[in-house]
Amino acid sequence: MPVAGNPLLSVKIYLSVAFFIVPERAIFEQDKSIYNRMKTILITGGAGFIGSHVVHLFVNKYPAYKIVNLDKLTYAGNLANLKDIENLPNYEFVKGDIVDSKFMLKLFEEKQFDGVIHLAAETHVDRSISNPTEFVFTNVIGTVNLLNAAKHIWKDHYEGKRFYHISTDEVYGTLGATGMFTEETGYDPHSPYSASKASSDHFVHAYHDTFGLPSVVSNCSNNYGSYQFPEKLIPLFINNIQNNKPLPVYGKGENVRDWLWVEDHARAIDIIFHKGKNGETYNIGGHNEWKNIDLIRAMCRIMDRKLGRPIGESEKLITFIKDRAGHDLRYAIDSAKLQHELGWAPSLQFEEGLEKTIDWYLENEEWLHNVTSGDYQKYYEEQYVKR
Ligand code: NAD
Ligand code: DAU
Repeated sequence: MPVAGNPLLSVKIYLSVAFFIVPERAIFEQDKSIYNRMKTILITGGAGFIGSHVVHLFVNKYPAYKIVNLDKLTYAGNLANLKDIENLPNYEFVKGDIVDSKFMLKLFEEKQFDGVIHLAAETHVDRSISNPTEFVFTNVIGTVNLLNAAKHIWKDHYEGKRFYHISTDEVYGTLGATGMFTEETGYDPHSPYSASKASSDHFVHAYHDTFGLPSVVSNCSNNYGSYQFPEKLIPLFINNIQNNKPLPVYGKGENVRDWLWVEDHARAIDIIFHKGKNGETYNIGGHNEWKNIDLIRAMCRIMDRKLGRPIGESEKLITFIKDRAGHDLRYAIDSAKLQHELGWAPSLQFEEGLEKTIDWYLENEEWLHNVTSGDYQKYYEEQYVKR
């Protein structure tokens, strides 16, 4: 071979051939030493809805990264979301709680992470109204624990390091009939959930400004797609329509949300993690505003068609109930900065995404059955039946 005398060149050629031609599993079987040259990335909350999509994307797209998924496996975390990648050699699952500072520090020391993508959180607004303190522990203290651990192991050697905090548009509060949230919009959270996320965002910015920690934050609108726990509007209503249960619409259903396909969020996270500027915030949104009641009616029509029911049948399940306390009227995200500076754009039309999402839940009855048995029944009773 012409490169036999040049070991560096042969490694380079071997790696490029391996990564582009040989299937991922085979690469690791052939050359275990690749492990030692990898970047190690911590993804927190990787067993949840968005986290599992991010883990899938990173594990499959970056065979030269070691992906460590740290998750407490709360009611919202589910390893079934990751079945197809659980045995890949560049993936590792660690069960743990970000609120446990000693455990987190030990993990950072052991793994020497190069990057952190932090998604672990308590995420449901209604649960934050019934139990705000849990949200302070996980979302605020948990985030500060991760910042401390990153600061500790990186010790001012920040070259090639990044702490990426995933946040929400709810930190900006609510909009009236017009306007959009930009990165300059002031924070004005209303629910305990959004207040805890706002606080965690401020801590990330503070660690950047005070300690120079290389960090970036993104604030995204409502996600939809596969693997979302059926406490959130879209999967909850798909499940109820299928089972002929009432559809509990808060207030008059006039609230507006900006819906984004979860895989488009995962792609944005990939781009921001690799190309975003430290100290910056990026807004992510679908430019896709829907009044709740219009979205619910659209879902009913699609489900009628898919379930072979007369058109109009599922709409009869709509039941208007007492409004959510402090219910934000409207969210709409201006993602121009992300689009122009980093070249991201949503890929999927909402109508197509909604059809795909409904199909996924209808085809994954076992997944839905498993997550809605046990504690879910108790939650449902307290949230809706005793309301
Ligand atoms: P999710 O509720 O589906 O998943 C959260 C995950 O975090 C679960 O796997 C859970 O087990 C884990 N977790 C919770 N507490 C933990 C702890 N103390 N230690 C370790 N792991 C813990 O959430 P999601 O909807 O996928 O949201 C992920 C992130 O994205 C959150 O930070 C959320 O604020 C943000 N976000 C969500 C949306 C949305 O529409 N879902 C939109 C914008 C931003
Ligand atoms: O905007 C981003 C946020 O979107 C994320 O940060 C949150 O983690 C995520 O939960 C989501 O918050 P919302 O409160 O907007 O999502 P949810 O699915 O709970 O509700 C969407 C809308 O539907 C909202 O206006 C409330 C309404 N709703 C919701 C439920 C669960 C109902 O009318 N009935 C319901 O039963």
